Amino acid sequence: MKPKIYVTRHLPEVAFDKLAAHCEVEIWDEEFPPSYEVLTEKIRDKEGLLCLLTDRIDPQLMDAAPNLKVISQCAVGFDNIDIAAATERGLPVGNTPGVLTDATADFAWSLLMSAARRVGEGIEYVKTGQWHTWGLTLLLGAEVYGATLGIIGMGRIGQAVAQRASGFNMKVLYSDAFRQPEAEANLGVEYRNLDDLLAESDFVSLHVNLTEETRGLMNARTMALMKASAILINTSRGPVIDPDDLYDALSSGEIAYAALDVTDPEPIPADHKLLSLPNCIIVPHIASATISTRTKMAMMAVDNLLAGLEGKPLPNQVNPGV
Ligand code: GLV
Repeated sequence: MKPKIYVTRHLPEVAFDKLAAHCEVEIWDEEFPPSYEVLTEKIRDKEGLLCLLTDRIDPQLMDAAPNLKVISQCAVGFDNIDIAAATERGLPVGNTPGVLTDATADFAWSLLMSAARRVGEGIEYVKTGQWHTWGLTLLLGAEVYGATLGIIGMGRIGQAVAQRASGFNMKVLYSDAFRQPEAEANLGVEYRNLDDLLAESDFVSLHVNLTEETRGLMNARTMALMKASAILINTSRGPVIDPDDLYDALSSGEIAYAALDVTDPEPIPADHKLLSLPNCIIVPHIASATISTRTKMAMMAVDNLLAGLEGKPLPNQVNPGV
């Protein structure tokens, strides 16, 4: 008999077909995620769960599924899953690192360039019929070439962002919980403590996991250290920036611009005060959203799930040894 599994959202066909060949799949095929209550009910008799970052996977949910053998998250970040609780219960948790590094780094650059050169405002300007003539001082932005880029979190994605900066002749600084001698040697990036990085950078790009240490990392104190001309880019997790403090920093001119792929809360309501600011670009958590990357992520999540069902170590396991 095939093992029963639950999938919390539509998957690319090739990934679904691979799952269906090995498992009895029940899928939540709606646009919005299943509620916590629905998910709790659905996984009662399941051996595997393939979930997304929109699903809260807490100890109660795990305990509702006595047959559960594996949790496979189709994302690299896993702050929605209580990993300690999974480990205590002997449940391996999988994620999808690596395959989304380049797409995410490319997108951090899309945001950086869009904010520097005020692309969103330019589009709005044309659409609203304000473009009447060429202007020497129209929509002046920030120079990217030769500027200083500060990367907070020099993991896979931070390094890929740094690599792209060489084409723009940028000085690249980084801060991280650990020094990265290899990245320093290979990419020419320079280590700074957080405060110095913030004070020296023209662009600050966030690439940390969301943890208790990084929640609210960008707040009134840290944003006050940034240059008034600085641009803040976030493709990590929304709560790494305090949204009220960001609003104050942007509206008072303490920093120049923010470009966010992730927000707190997520989704951000259309009437949120950050959306009223001309110097804040917000897009809906799409940094890894290319056809090829999302397909690879789904295939990786499927492979993690199938390994867990067979009792094998997952190809990408967040809590190795479980
Ligand atoms: C996306 O944010 C991911 O963690 O994969």
